[in-house]
Amino acid sequence: MMNDDLQKRIQAALANPHNMGELTNADAIGTVGNSDCGEMLRLWVKFKQQDGRKVIDRATFQSFGCETAIAVASLATELIRGKTAEEALSLKTEELAGELGPLPPMKIHCAQLVEGALRSALSTQAETCTKPTAPPEAPANVAAPTLLDRIAKPQAGGVKITFLDEGS
Ligand code: FES
Repeated sequence: MMNDDLQKRIQAALANPHNMGELTNADAIGTVGNSDCGEMLRLWVKFKQQDGRKVIDRATFQSFGCETAIAVASLATELIRGKTAEEALSLKTEELAGELGPLPPMKIHCAQLVEGALRSALSTQAETCTKPTAPPEAPANVAAPTLLDRIAKPQAGGVKITFLDEGS
């Protein structure tokens, strides 16, 4: 059962969501979906130069309506401002969810959706600064994976999530 505190924090984030809506002139866009719950999330990111570094100036999002995903996206888009693409990519799921605190297992994927959209948007930006690694395996006789196929798979590198005991 979702604890009341978490529900309150989600509602508080929803009452005044930050950075909702399309960002015109975005430098990067990431879209992911979850085929199980039908939620889709799109993230727009705009960069600026600051102290010789390319940092995130603004990030905005659009969601199909999952409250937890909206709450996490609202917090995450605030959190990544002023960070480089690499710094933002190094954030863990639970860091993106920030003050929402630990999410119950059934809601983890909502935060991962936000993380996935962020990775999708930022990976190309990060690659421009680092040597691109070998392209992912793509056997010619297999149809290209759809977006949903790709995001349905566990992400390489793994996301480590530590659950706190709800009872404590
Ligand atoms: Fe699927 Fe929240 S219920 S993204």
